[in-house]
Amino acid sequence: MKALVFHGPGQTSWQNVPDPSVKDAADAIVRVDAVTICGTDLHIVKGDVPEVTPGRILGHEAVGTVVETGGDVRSVRPGDRVLISCISACGRCRFCREGHYGQCRGGGGWVLGHTIDGTQAEYVRVPFADLSVHPLPSALDSHDAVLLADIFPTSYEVGVLNGNVRPGDTVVVVGAGPIGLAAIATAQLYSPGRIIAVDLAASRLAAARDLGADATASADEEPERLVEDLTDGLGADVVIEAVGVPEAFEMCTRMVRPGGHVANIGVHGKPAVLHLEDLWIKDVTITTGLVDTHSTPMLLRMTAAGRLPGAAMVTHRFELDQMEEAYDVFSNAGETGALKVVLGGPQHDTVTVPPQER
Ligand SMILES: NC(=O)c1ccc[n+]([C@@H]2O[C@H](COP(=O)([O-])OP(=O)(O)OC[C@H]3O[C@@H](n4cnc5c(N)ncnc54)[C@H](O)[C@@H]3O)[C@@H](O)[C@H]2O)c1
Ligand SMILES: [Zn+2]
Ligand SMILES: [Zn+2]
Repeated sequence: MKALVFHGPGQTSWQNVPDPSVKDAADAIVRVDAVTICGTDLHIVKGDVPEVTPGRILGHEAVGTVVETGGDVRSVRPGDRVLISCISACGRCRFCREGHYGQCRGGGGWVLGHTIDGTQAEYVRVPFADLSVHPLPSALDSHDAVLLADIFPTSYEVGVLNGNVRPGDTVVVVGAGPIGLAAIATAQLYSPGRIIAVDLAASRLAAARDLGADATASADEEPERLVEDLTDGLGADVVIEAVGVPEAFEMCTRMVRPGGHVANIGVHGKPAVLHLEDLWIKDVTITTGLVDTHSTPMLLRMTAAGRLPGAAMVTHRFELDQMEEAYDVFSNAGETGALKVVLGGPQHDTVTVPPQER
């Protein structure tokens, strides 16, 4: 099969690799029907995530069709259309038992496209399939569903829930890439008073306004001043970091009000300075987090009900074998206007499974 292989910082190629096979009785092999690229993949390609070693197939978000399952898999069968979660879960360890799947110690957690081969490929082996894929209702389009593999649960859990967004709050979202935009969309489930988006790219600020931001500011034009003006000098109740660079995190800690929350979502490859000389007296709560995806079933129901923007965030569509072009478009979002890029068709093209196997 073909897959996108990481060869070290700055180097990837769409190339022939061996087909995956069932290695464990809990595995499923899934044919990838729709796949996307995450800001985290850009960090990996930059060299920010050193656990990803040369030879690794990237990607941790996809919708696909199960083609084979190991003997222990109970919840899906060949022919089922599924969402592949960015987080796999053994279901047995202490963290999984508490719904903290991102921290799984039994071989799951964020493994796809990180410590095992991922989804930017024609086929992928998904470990612990019972808890790591979600069967999809036939009415849900693959391009809506694929956004629930990572960005919506991440923004909701690590941004909105960790940030403790409440009715009436002023919420600042720093970084209006897909993650920041999904934070803007899911923060609205809690009726904030006002959402302010900050980014460097005008196209992304425009998208933020389309998705419900009330005010926007460019990161290089002192957005702290706008936040101060809009909050009578107090600062924001909740500031969500959705970039992953030190400047952005440090800006978030300058924008938060006393007693407020800074929820970091960004993947950081370099140290950021924590200005405790300013912060110690402000009673702020700073949270970090890897998504657990415990909210995915709820978000799937909300997307099916039309309550989340879903594929409205997809700006570019490609065939699977246009992976390198899709990376170029996504990584130059300032010029291309890309939000989420999706590869593969929106339609489910049925795999025929003989009745005796079902
Ligand atoms: N914690 C998790 O579980 C988790 C999961 C998925 C993604 N992430 C991370 O979330 C972050 C955002 O992901 P994405 O897919 O939206 O990435 P992205 O690269 O598409 O978006 C980042 C945005 O930040 C903007 N930006 C860059 N520098 C800035 C600055 N100094 N101030 C304000 N904005 C700035 C860029 O213009 C861009 O629009 C990434 O760091 C990604 O790795 C974390
Ligand atoms: Zn991701
Ligand atoms: Zn576990």
